[in-house]
Amino acid sequence: MKVAVRYFTKTGHTKLLADAVAEAAGVKAETVDVPLTEDVDILFLGSAVYAANLDEAVKSFIDSISVSVGKIVPFSSAAILKGTYKQVKACAEAKGLKVSDEEFFCKGAFGVIAKGRPNQKDAEDIKAFAKRIIG
Ligand SMILES: Cc1cc2nc3c(=O)[nH]c(=O)nc-3n(C[C@H](O)[C@H](O)[C@H](O)COP(=O)(O)O)c2cc1C
Repeated sequence: MKVAVRYFTKTGHTKLLADAVAEAAGVKAETVDVPLTEDVDILFLGSAVYAANLDEAVKSFIDSISVSVGKIVPFSSAAILKGTYKQVKACAEAKGLKVSDEEFFCKGAFGVIAKGRPNQKDAEDIKAFAKRIIG
């Protein structure tokens, strides 16, 4: 099973989650600036909500995928909204890429909202999620 982890972060939360996924998968988490160069069975793709949107860097990364991807498994955080799953799914499906029905979402602090998140428990939860997906 070939697994890759890519993420975009502005304030470090998605890196924390991506590193936990990478640890579970035994691979290195890279930012979306690092293109996929080999076919993968599972691509864990981490992002967050900014001004109610998915960052353009994540959209461009999805658009740039030229290898075969079995499925994308999105993970995200946000302070108020419920994450980026729908937006990632729309971008990926527009490219003909399969997106898992399962996602990981947790709160991500923004100012006084959701302070301290993602926390250690979120990191453990996403690690368990990744292990279950990888099987
Ligand atoms: C510039 C900015 C805009 C944000 N806008 C929203 C928003 O519209 N809705 C929301 O629920 N969270 C919003 N957030 C909160 C982020 O989604 C949350 O902090 C997330 O965990 C950030 O992940 P990152 O540290 O990987 O960038 C915003 C955060 C930043 C920094």
